[in-house]
Amino acid sequence: MKVEEIIRKQEEWRSHSINLIASENVMSERAKRVYVNDFMHRYAEGKPGKRYYQGTRFIDELEVYVTELFKEVFNVKHADVRPISGVTANFSTFFAMKKRGLLANVGLPSGAHISHELGAEVLCFDTISLPFDLERWNVDVDKARKLLEEKEPDFVVLGASLYLFPHPVKEIAETGIPVVHDSAHVLGLHLGPFKNPLKEGATVVTASTHKTFPGPQGGVILSDDEETFKKIYKTTFPYIVSNHHLHRLASLAVTLEEMKEFGREYANQIVRNAKALAEALYTRGWNVVAEDLGFTKTHQIAVDVKDKGGGKKVAETLEKANIILNKNMLPWDKDPKDPSGIRIGVQEMTRFGMKEGEMDYIAELMTKALKDPEGVRREVIAFRSDYQEVRYGFD
Ligand SMILES: Cc1ncc(COP(=O)(O)O)c(C=O)c1O
Repeated sequence: MKVEEIIRKQEEWRSHSINLIASENVMSERAKRVYVNDFMHRYAEGKPGKRYYQGTRFIDELEVYVTELFKEVFNVKHADVRPISGVTANFSTFFAMKKRGLLANVGLPSGAHISHELGAEVLCFDTISLPFDLERWNVDVDKARKLLEEKEPDFVVLGASLYLFPHPVKEIAETGIPVVHDSAHVLGLHLGPFKNPLKEGATVVTASTHKTFPGPQGGVILSDDEETFKKIYKTTFPYIVSNHHLHRLASLAVTLEEMKEFGREYANQIVRNAKALAEALYTRGWNVVAEDLGFTKTHQIAVDVKDKGGGKKVAETLEKANIILNKNMLPWDKDPKDPSGIRIGVQEMTRFGMKEGEMDYIAELMTKALKDPEGVRREVIAFRSDYQEVRYGFD
């Protein structure tokens, strides 16, 4: 029973760890219960009502339900729920919107995702990076506009993997060049303080459905622009997916039902917690970036830990204390294997009901763990034992 034993060890470990990986989350009990279902054995190429296979009447019903829920919950006109991940959503969108084959992004060192750069190259795009203003931890709007006027890319990809402050969607969209906002990290926050980029002028939002939006692993594409959306929808199938991993749509529907009711409160508490953790670490001597800007407006914070041995060393030490996070490049870094930063996300711990007080305690544990990780592990396990259930309602 090797497999069962591996799963048991994983679940025991991760349910007694403080998980601060910014790209992860957990599903609710109900979403987990419906995850394993007969749809996982099936195919449904095409779209509801127009499939290339027989036997699809119930997946049609489920896919229409999820799509309508997405439109309602995010107040958008169109949704494609078939991409099986955030990268897949990007590929579908980039390919459908390709003209000359040039896209602009925010640049890998400033937080762009590899799919905006290396992934785009696979689709035969050339890429340019928008100038980034480190004083404001954001795109330099004036310089970016000049560059865009000069280069006229097919579209601009905003949104990022290291994402502290909302990118200037409105200002970039005013250039007339279409904006694709990659909301992989911040989809759930669009129900709270982080404005929906489509309402700020973005043409398309792509996203993962499992980070601040706490659903099953998967992707989604949202748009209010019918013409562009039609092109994308026709690209997802047959060019990017064949089987779209149907079983996850059941959990996606459940998560949407839950987020419709509790999403705003959850998103607000996430951002409050991120700020609280940043403040608590900063007062304990950690070099949290963007202090003068209030540290963050998302679920993430970034810390320069060069003075503590660098991102790799700090992340490995904290893991020994069951505090899990990742090393991360900061905009001035050159070596991705040993960057000076760590990235922290609070969305999963918020989901288990933690608030500002708990963030302060986590900062205390992290600080102590640098000196005595094995000793702190016992404290982490005891602390985390009290936070085992996904909570709803925060205000
Ligand atoms: C900005 C951004 N886009 C896309 C992705 C890829 O998402 P997925 O892992 O769902 O393919 C990530 C992954 O974390 C990301 O940070």
